Amino acid sequence: MTKIGRRTFTQTVLASSAAYLLIPRSAKASDSRIEILINEPVGAIAPEVYSHFIEHLGAVIYDGIWVGEKSKIPNYNGIRKALVDNLKKLKPGVIRYPGGCFADQYDWRDGVGTRDKRPTRVNFWADTRYKTTKAYEDLEGGPQKYEANQFGTDEFVSFCRMVGAQPYLAANVRSRDVRVFLEWLEYCNAPANMTTWSTERAKNGYPAPHKVSFWGVGNESWGCGGDFTPEEYATEFRKFTAWLPTYGVPLKLIGSGPNGGDIAWTRRFFQALAEKGSRQIAKLYGWGLHYYCGSTGQQIANEFTENEWYDLLERANRMETLVEDHWQVMGEIDRERRVKLAVDEWGAWHKQDADVPPGYLYAYAGTLRDALISAINLDIFQRHADTVTMANPAQMVNTIHSLFHTYEDKFILTPNYHVFEMYMPHAGATAVRSEFISPKANFTRLDAQRKEVPASLWGLNGSASLKDKQLTLTVVNPSAKETRNAEISIRGASIRSGESRTLTSSDIHARNTFANPHALEPKDATVNGSGSTIPYTFPAASVTRLTFSLM
Ligand code: AHR
Repeated sequence: MTKIGRRTFTQTVLASSAAYLLIPRSAKASDSRIEILINEPVGAIAPEVYSHFIEHLGAVIYDGIWVGEKSKIPNYNGIRKALVDNLKKLKPGVIRYPGGCFADQYDWRDGVGTRDKRPTRVNFWADTRYKTTKAYEDLEGGPQKYEANQFGTDEFVSFCRMVGAQPYLAANVRSRDVRVFLEWLEYCNAPANMTTWSTERAKNGYPAPHKVSFWGVGNESWGCGGDFTPEEYATEFRKFTAWLPTYGVPLKLIGSGPNGGDIAWTRRFFQALAEKGSRQIAKLYGWGLHYYCGSTGQQIANEFTENEWYDLLERANRMETLVEDHWQVMGEIDRERRVKLAVDEWGAWHKQDADVPPGYLYAYAGTLRDALISAINLDIFQRHADTVTMANPAQMVNTIHSLFHTYEDKFILTPNYHVFEMYMPHAGATAVRSEFISPKANFTRLDAQRKEVPASLWGLNGSASLKDKQLTLTVVNPSAKETRNAEISIRGASIRSGESRTLTSSDIHARNTFANPHALEPKDATVNGSGSTIPYTFPAASVTRLTFSLM
């Protein structure tokens, strides 16, 4: 089949849609056009694009996940039941643990064996992040201040099994040596009673190996994970990964990739790694890109102007350029394209809400804006299904871009959760090319001198995928006020029937709280129309999933 280049396609569609837009119509005239090219596959959407991340940070582990077996809060062997039941519905790909920055100070041996004999350590995040603040003084001890290691490797793997996810463990490169990593591998993957560590695992109640395939080699090694240069980290990577025992489990190693747009980190690491030959590159399964949009904890999640709404959505949208730029640079060395991107930390990062306990570091109730940010990111990963092999929002519960909020027996689903639930049909499907044409959203933002400057974001964007005869199209309308009347055209098939699921609100600050847990939830409807072209109106400030059965 002849493929049309993106520019030619856009020009053709623009010309035809311009002509189309000129046709007087009695009904609502279209202002936008979406083309789905179902015969142009991009690639399979890895189920691991729907992955998660948890860390010993704030109340992620303690309260969020681990409540203990004796808790009055309903639990499965100590793990919060409501979390397990709801997470399972999202079919999580992998769960990454124990960090994050925490991983590079963690010793896995602290977290195995009889629970009441495990050592207590200072909680790294409380100690390093806000020791000099009033919030630290306000901490009354407990797991957010002192880490008693009640949740460790075995509890983590059990949690993964309960929800159907693969475990993804991050090795400590900064403060433990290779041997500690090798012993962790052995504890997790060696057959029962083969070695001292696998005997220990069996004694702890887990005779069958944990079979952990995914291993991170450090975390943010350019920063909290060691302040390495790319060349130094390449040396560490080689040292940590030379001659790893597999115990029959294929190992998928993720390298500590760049901070946002730090192209030099990617280029210099790949160059330095390749100095020892291409076998070194082949050891890498994924290259971990981290990108947070937002003010890294400076601004309150639900206090923003309309301009700030757009500003953050546009910053989230930069993920697309990051994915494309790092991918291009990786290809300069990895000509055979063996290594894919693992975006194993992404999301919007706001300030901790004033009404959460001080130890719940960076916990806040996200809004509709955060939901759109989730959708923007997931759509980007899907449009780059041939490039992105894994993606993990930071983090699953009670911190930053979370899907769940808990406080003792209280438990709610955030707007991010609803987007993940809506996007589920994409996982494992084949992404197909889609093109969106719509009037841009214009806004102003403050530049470095705090001067207002004009900026813009696309009018509609999204992604499409095909599984059997079902087409899933997800679309974000970022306009705070305007609906978009689109003509959706399917090239290569026609629609038998369709359904929609939409997350929106007339209030762009809408969010779910313990007091009002169902304020923002998706709504279902039937889509009218059949054939290869149908009209569809996307509400302002919305995420929409359209599911079409094709003939
Ligand atoms: O997700 C919070 C922190 O952000 C992680 O620990 C770290 O990797 C990143 O800087």
